[in-house]
Amino acid sequence: MLKIEHLKKHFGKQAVLDDINLRINKGEIACIIGQSGSGKTVLFRHIIGLIFPDGGRILLDGKVISYPGIRQQQFNETRKRFGILFQGAALFDSMNVGENLAFPLRERTSLTEKEIQHTIVESLERVGLREEFKEKMPAELSGGMRSRVGLARALVMKPEIMLYDEPTSALDPIMTEKINDLITSLRDKLNMTSIVVTHDIGSAYKIADKIAMIHEGKIIFEGTPAEIRKTRNPYIQKFIRGQRKMHYAVEDESTYAAPIDVNRLRKSIPASRRFPSSPPFQSSTGTAASDGADES
Ligand SMILES: Nc1ncnc2c1ncn2[C@@H]1O[C@H](COP(=O)(O)OP(=O)(O)O)[C@@H](O)[C@H]1O
Ligand SMILES: [Mg+2]
Repeated sequence: MLKIEHLKKHFGKQAVLDDINLRINKGEIACIIGQSGSGKTVLFRHIIGLIFPDGGRILLDGKVISYPGIRQQQFNETRKRFGILFQGAALFDSMNVGENLAFPLRERTSLTEKEIQHTIVESLERVGLREEFKEKMPAELSGGMRSRVGLARALVMKPEIMLYDEPTSALDPIMTEKINDLITSLRDKLNMTSIVVTHDIGSAYKIADKIAMIHEGKIIFEGTPAEIRKTRNPYIQKFIRGQRKMHYAVEDESTYAAPIDVNRLRKSIPASRRFPSSPPFQSSTGTAASDGADES
């Protein structure tokens, strides 16, 4: 269990984290949401020990792992318990996929070559990739595939907690869904604890057991997806509505993009021969309603 207590961090005069309190249970997927610049990545970097707080502390299974004045190397043992998927996956471009996955094992374990190969294949399978994938070079991979390989590389070290900073931000809707499915499958198969930093409320709804929203340096909401939908806080409502709309807009555009003006086509068909229900690409734009009006 990870516990963040009264965490504070400022840069110059700017207080980015101002008394953050958060608890993440084992086997839980926690999504940290918030608008751009709200401090999500700064919080993320605290959890993985890249930066340390000015105040407060972080505990893992009851043991203090981060506090003001701690030195980098005191965090090294803790860091081994974390698997991290960085934005863009941070693969080594000169190595093929197999070598990328073998790298941390060769650097940090004393596994035999046979054990290394076994672990690589196992990790690739966990993210839905066949063994042949080992031979691919990073440059041959799409953004979504790179993310998967990055995730497989994190898994070779058998982390207790997986951490993701904006894992789906550069991906199309189909790949976003695949990555979301992978994150939930790790929870369901391995009881993996996951911390996902995202500004994508749609993904958070789908995968989170707990959503925590950060605003002006504080956690202003902590609860389930169902609970955040019901909240009456106007700022939170505005954020989740705005993000939701944005999510749909992106989804519609890339899923159904076609060089055809569907509305014009529909209007050219006599009302009696039109499809009785509106096609799905109209539901989020509100044009379905105005179409109905023109049919009467
Ligand atoms: N190393 C740094 N030095 C100074 N300011 C920083 C540093 N890292 C982050 N910040 C500031 O902290 C704020 C939060 O940034 P960040 O955590 O990256 O936001 P986001 O929620 O978009 O991930 C921003 O105003 C950013 O400019
Ligand atoms: Mg960020």
